[in-house]
Amino acid sequence: LDNGLARTPPMGFNDWNAFGCNVSEQLIEQTADYLVSSGLRDDGYTYVNIDDCWLTHSRDAAGNLVPDPAKFPDGIKGTADYVHAKGLKLGIYEDAGTATCAGYPGSLGHEQQDANSFAAWGVDYLKYDNCNNTGVPWQQRYDAMRDALAATGRPIVFSMCEWGEDSVWTWGAPTGNLWRTTGDISANFSSMLSIYHSNVQLAAYAGPGGWNDPDMLEVGNGMSFTEDRSEFSLWAEMAAPLIAGTDLRQATPATLSLYGNKAVIAVDQDPLGRQGTQVSSSGGLDVLAKPLANGDVAVVLFNENSSAATISTTAGAVGLPASSSYKLTNLWSNAVTSSGGAISASVPGHGSVMYRVSPGSGSSTGTTHPLLGASSH
Ligand code: GLA
Repeated sequence: LDNGLARTPPMGFNDWNAFGCNVSEQLIEQTADYLVSSGLRDDGYTYVNIDDCWLTHSRDAAGNLVPDPAKFPDGIKGTADYVHAKGLKLGIYEDAGTATCAGYPGSLGHEQQDANSFAAWGVDYLKYDNCNNTGVPWQQRYDAMRDALAATGRPIVFSMCEWGEDSVWTWGAPTGNLWRTTGDISANFSSMLSIYHSNVQLAAYAGPGGWNDPDMLEVGNGMSFTEDRSEFSLWAEMAAPLIAGTDLRQATPATLSLYGNKAVIAVDQDPLGRQGTQVSSSGGLDVLAKPLANGDVAVVLFNENSSAATISTTAGAVGLPASSSYKLTNLWSNAVTSSGGAISASVPGHGSVMYRVSPGSGSSTGTTHPLLGASSH
């Protein structure tokens, strides 16, 4: 959506994966505090997003949405003020139907009134769900909220949550800033893997302002560390929104080392805005390549199987120009090696190795793509 927002994939936190309906102002504010104190805000995690269940069950006499006063004693406005004072942005959830998935009032037919409430409260991001939609065509319902948000004049990221229905990626870019490509993720490897399989095919539809959304991260919610690291690597490689789905306040140092890897975040947030693609995929051994703005390529070697395997490709196969040598930076170990063109690693079962590959043996840090240098300032 050409609204000036989400020029790189949105980053932040959403409560749903870890808390379900147990959302509260206290949780949102404590998470905001933690994003600041941990440094994650400065790594790019700026949206603190409220999911379903923030409402009361009926609108007021004037038809306005009413936040649950027990969960949000200062309302959404008070919560937004708190979050904004921390240098962060506030996200909220509604539904393009008669009720949200958890049964609270939906926005279908109330688009402008509800968009006006969000803008008045200081909301910066709307996740707009698809339950109870009474069969009104998808695009009609999402266009209505897009237009209502625009009419408020407040910049609000528009996150479409219609689970990949109606091939949303084919009409997503003019409608929303991101669109879910699948059903809901859960915190296990097979769920993550099947979502990856769907989302990785859709690279042609993604770019600045409009991203494929393979759902929020489950890192820290129950997969093994190796599997969590694969999810974070694959999501970054696919230029996915990086929306943390765990209780960050309780996260272990290992979990935080995944969310906080600046070099992997930089791949996700690369200004070229290209989603990585599968260069090869055979017998559960995948090679992905994502071109980056400075001419480097981010490569993920992903082992879908449960036993270790060697995965190999070449600089030419991932799209790098011919060179007598390449620099390989392992983005998880920080080890730097040079290569004549082979890119290969032993990868543990369910694991990933992620490299940033530069042509030539010198450092590419700080260099700028000649075609992008002028537009970046
Ligand atoms: C749907 C969405 C989820 C979450 C729940 C809330 O299932 O896909 O991401 O927002 O609704 O009820």
